[in-house]
Amino acid sequence: MFPTVLLLFFLAAQSNPAPAPPIDWAKAKRLFDANCAGCHGPEGAGGKGPALAVPILPHARTNEQLAGVIVGGIPGTLMPASWHLGNEGVMLAVAYVRKLGAGATPPKVEGDAAKGQALFAGKGGCTNCHSIGYGPDLSSIGSRRTAASLRESITDPAAEVLEDYLPVRIVTREGKMVQGMRVNEDTFTIQIMEPSGRFSSFRKDSLSKLDKRVGESPMPSYKAVFSENELRDVVAYLSSLRGEQ
Ligand code: HEC
Ligand code: HEC
Repeated sequence: MFPTVLLLFFLAAQSNPAPAPPIDWAKAKRLFDANCAGCHGPEGAGGKGPALAVPILPHARTNEQLAGVIVGGIPGTLMPASWHLGNEGVMLAVAYVRKLGAGATPPKVEGDAAKGQALFAGKGGCTNCHSIGYGPDLSSIGSRRTAASLRESITDPAAEVLEDYLPVRIVTREGKMVQGMRVNEDTFTIQIMEPSGRFSSFRKDSLSKLDKRVGESPMPSYKAVFSENELRDVVAYLSSLRGEQ
């Protein structure tokens, strides 16, 4: 039996110039148990370090990033550099962590995505901004963010504001006030998009006030708008947005 398998690998290697190296899963598991499980838990369930048997690893979205985290560790945290594993060991660790992630039950979505979609377009008025570009594209947000961080974006948008979205308020010399989001700025002018989608450009020397509200988000908090159940439903809907694949 064993020689037959070897022969098959040999033949496969002959017909395919670059076969994926077969992974020795028993060896990969031993390596993980010896080097990683002490912190990340058996089967990556989590412990002193975060669970690795999850669909999304924020520090390691690609295999290159994952290998980088393993080789270099995460400075300033308990996560150690494991360069001593060597190339083969790092490759095995990457494969094993991905296997744990693939076997993980997809994130438990607590809410009802269909109801969330209705809230997104209706009561929440989210489309008012997000479908006209007054806010980022959300079509694959579910594959980039965990449910917990999506929830925070909705209840507390100012906690982490994306750099490109700076709320501004200006007053012209004639006393006209415009509030919106900075789209562009140079030494002499500033372009603003209002929540209605309207763009305006102003010469800075025509303004009596230019107030950049750093640390605020153009997006309002929905903490007091949604009930707990509605919030779950909207998060479930966002989690289901995974782009086309
Ligand atoms: C001494 C404890 C410890 C050991 C040993 C350890 N880790 Fe970690 N690891 C951590 C901690 C703590 C973090 C979270 C660091 C942070 O705060 O961002 C982490 C983070 C990670 C992350 C990033 C997770 C994410 O959410 O993106 C990966 C991937 C990872 N470890 C893989 C491994 C692998 C693979 C091994 C074995 C080769 C290993 N770790 C060994 C403690 C450890
Ligand atoms: C007034 C316009 C506006 C409305 C209404 C609005 N948003 Fe936003 N949203 C933004 C802007 C601008 C940002 C980017 C700034 C930031 O990160 O806070 C953003 C960011 C986000 C993010 C983070 C995106 C990322 O890539 O990290 C999520 C998620 C989000 N909005 C969801 C929602 C949901 C759900 C609703 C409705 C319940 C909503 N938004 C309503 C303007 C809006």
